[in-house]
Amino acid sequence: MRSSNIRYTEHFVATADRCQANGHRSGILWFTGLSASGKTTLAFELERILFQKGWRTFVLDGDNVRHGLCADLGFSAADRAENIRRIGEVAKLFAESGCLVITAFISPYRADRDRVRTIAGDLFHEVHIATPLEVCERRDPKGLYGKARRGEIEGFTGISAPYESPDAPELQLDTSGLTVAEGLGRLLEYVDLKFNIG
Ligand code: ADX
Repeated sequence: MRSSNIRYTEHFVATADRCQANGHRSGILWFTGLSASGKTTLAFELERILFQKGWRTFVLDGDNVRHGLCADLGFSAADRAENIRRIGEVAKLFAESGCLVITAFISPYRADRDRVRTIAGDLFHEVHIATPLEVCERRDPKGLYGKARRGEIEGFTGISAPYESPDAPELQLDTSGLTVAEGLGRLLEYVDLKFNIG
């Protein structure tokens, strides 16, 4: 930490009281998986459904966040670590505000995800979108796998940069054999179990 002469002030409004007022628990659903695995689609659909039920919820998505907060970062291991660190801190703040945050970042390195788990503690729920590489590559909605195979993108996750699967995610979804509705059904079941109050 570079700053000195700073002091943390506790809120007068506790997170638990915010959750009580909102009618649901808060936390972070941390989606991790390859590009084109289904993270963004499921995250935004889930956000819409929960919002319609009156829940406080917000998606932090890789491509979006890289337009602003993380516009200065690339795709080296060090930059991805910093990307995930920033998002972890922001997601924790959202969760403390009473929100159910859904994050959609490849977050390919186990150590980076584990650091967020340490930062956020019990608020952190790891959701592995475990769609196999062959399926993601066949989908290739942004044409990036094609570019990576032709050597036009360096360090592309799954092709020329690693993806380290979680050892013990709270939830695992392989979208290759599921419709979006079925994937959402599994997520909603989990959300209901973990975040519904009473
Ligand atoms: S992460 O690795 O730092 O978690 P993040 O989720 O923010 O990645 O961004 C991934 C998105 O950036 C991909 O969906 C893709 O659109 C784009 N992208 C551009 N270059 C790369 C690359 N070298 N590896 C992976 N994704 C890339």
